Amino acid sequence: MQKLIIKGKKELSGKISISGSKNATLPILAASILAEHAIIKNIPLVKDIFTMVDLLNFIGLKTKLIKKNNVIEIYNKSKNINTLAPYKLVKTMRAGVLVLGSLLTKYKKAKVSLPGGCAIGTRPVDLHLFALKKFGAKIKIKDGYIIAKARSGLKGANIRFPSISVGATENALLAAFKAKGKTVLKNCAIEPEIIDLIKFLKKLGANIHVKGRSISISESKKKTSSVLHKVIFDRIELGTYMIASTLLAKKNLVIDKIDPKIIQREINILKKIGIKIIQKKNSIIVKKREKLKKISITTKPYPGFPTDLQAQLMVLLTQVKGKSKIKEDIFENRFMHVPELRRMGAQIEIKNKTAIITGPTKLTGAEVMATDLRASVSLVLAGLIAENRTIINRIYHLDRGYESLERKLKNCKAEIQRI
Ligand code: UD1
Repeated sequence: MQKLIIKGKKELSGKISISGSKNATLPILAASILAEHAIIKNIPLVKDIFTMVDLLNFIGLKTKLIKKNNVIEIYNKSKNINTLAPYKLVKTMRAGVLVLGSLLTKYKKAKVSLPGGCAIGTRPVDLHLFALKKFGAKIKIKDGYIIAKARSGLKGANIRFPSISVGATENALLAAFKAKGKTVLKNCAIEPEIIDLIKFLKKLGANIHVKGRSISISESKKKTSSVLHKVIFDRIELGTYMIASTLLAKKNLVIDKIDPKIIQREINILKKIGIKIIQKKNSIIVKKREKLKKISITTKPYPGFPTDLQAQLMVLLTQVKGKSKIKEDIFENRFMHVPELRRMGAQIEIKNKTAIITGPTKLTGAEVMATDLRASVSLVLAGLIAENRTIINRIYHLDRGYESLERKLKNCKAEIQRI
């Protein structure tokens, strides 16, 4: 099994280019079932994307992944379509459940494995199914599979989500794409990745209008079968490297291939802690800061502070004077990095949903274990600022979502190596 070995306390300098967003690419790949031909640019070459491509191939689409350009070309002209998403492909990547909306829209039926729980929580799909039923789909669960049918096609619906879910909003958008009549979705997730999916669907002819947390979709007679789309940058990867730079940049570190406008809220929160950032059109320069301010923060759906940056922020807060607090309000079990960070010297206490971080503490290298994607990268950050050597086990979690992590960090003079 592969491990990462990091020799900490090395200053970072140079430039890091941010990859395309994994969480935007996954629903867009699921939406490509609705097109006859799609070219998608700026896709990150990470394990979850490869799994989604395997799923599209299994369904019967033809895919051509041009790795050196981060581009995928997808054709869906086959008559032999398999409206099945098998367990082996959905169990490792929950986003597989997003093909449900597209398959129901295009083929009026789908059999998709239930994704099951994962390390960070139970992660049910009840809200996805709640929405699809409102569109008129008949759904039953049998042998671990969601079996959905809409013999006469999906019908427009008024849906208010009882709570906000990224995946359920995406599945509802995919179902609403060709639903008869008008659809209004309320209490939606409006993450930038969802807005990117909407852009893709609009290029395919959808009439979609977003106002606050309401999204209306009216039936479109327009038929566009071919679409070209460039995926937005990964704001979580950007946030991760912004935190690394704040702690370790030699002077200034440039992070490019981004649009600062899209992550203004995250930038403002990080500025409150004292991070110094100079914004340019497609890049930012992050300055190393010694004097940072403690903070109390709760993770929330966009435009709140993202749960996907919670573990990385916690590492930063171990270096801040005083007691900071992070309340995790999205997932029930997303503090698994805490015992590992404690083993490196961090002082973190957990009370119910809140982690109380006392700083500043000197972190020292240790052998640690990655438990999920974002927890893994928080251990990388901790290893980068710790004294001596940190060994991170089970790094396959990292490979699910961070493109070329070691290369990007090595280019900035970090000492990091995979064995
Ligand atoms: C997406 C992101 C993930 C991010 C999360 C929250 C992708 C591929 N993944 O995951 O990185 O951490 O948003 O920003 O984009 N829930 C239900 N019932 C449902 C669906 C969700 O109770 O049917 C709950 C979940 O258990 C969780 C909360 O709602 O507590 C939010 O989950 P959701 O927004 O759906 O996350 P994902 O789409 O799975």
